Amino acid sequence: MSDFEQVEKRDGESVSVLHITDTHLFAAEDGTLLGIDTAESLNAVIDAVLSSGRSFDFVLCTGDLSQDYSTGSYERFARIIRRLGKPVYWLPGNHDDGPLMYRIMPGLGISTAREIRCGRWQFLMLNSQVYSAPCGYLAPDQLAFLRERLDRSDGLFSAVCLHHNVFHTESAWLDQHDLKNSDQFKSIIYHHGQVKLVLCGHIHQNLERELGGISYIATPSTSIQFAYGHNDFQLDRMGPGWRFIDFAPDGTFTSDLFRLPAESFSPNWFSGGY
Ligand SMILES: [Fe+2]
Repeated sequence: MSDFEQVEKRDGESVSVLHITDTHLFAAEDGTLLGIDTAESLNAVIDAVLSSGRSFDFVLCTGDLSQDYSTGSYERFARIIRRLGKPVYWLPGNHDDGPLMYRIMPGLGISTAREIRCGRWQFLMLNSQVYSAPCGYLAPDQLAFLRERLDRSDGLFSAVCLHHNVFHTESAWLDQHDLKNSDQFKSIIYHHGQVKLVLCGHIHQNLERELGGISYIATPSTSIQFAYGHNDFQLDRMGPGWRFIDFAPDGTFTSDLFRLPAESFSPNWFSGGY
């Protein structure tokens, strides 16, 4: 099966992407994460996206689709995300079973493409999962894939997606689980001037940074939220989030972050971790 897909777009038009991340779904109908029904919160996000009337070309999901590593959780993801009626591209997070996902997603009607091209942009989906560990690492095959696809990007602009954060959240409990070989990663992307954006999940909060002409953006989870700047585990009262990003043909982009109302999905505030 090819790891490449082209999403058609008319010349000169911007590419609009919906970024959804860290859905943390369960196989069980009544599965909850720290008291939040994660299927219900994802459905509420999708309700809000659909009722906004905003058009988009495809969906990017940057990992932690599951919380229980089960086939049933991915079947649930496919059933819910299908409501959007758009192509969906994804990569594994630390709460996922990556090998299982690559095996079963095609049967659930979801692509396993790792390079998507649309308009003047190339989107690369990297797997930073370390099996059974919460931190991230890009193995040599992932770095080789990144370098190879950036080397022959045919003049397109590039957005690179992965689960783990490169920038810190000033939260020791969370930052210890960042991308461990971020220097290797950055040494590749900074040698390819067409890279404009690094998009991630994992930290369950909004983070927008810029370094050397590359933007680093993390989008809030569709489930629980983590607070910025706390050394110990700390939940945040903000609502589940999602992001639209419009990629212009000139290599610039604009990003709009949206959230459900604060405390629309209240977790168990006394949880000491997850
Ligand atoms: Fe997560």
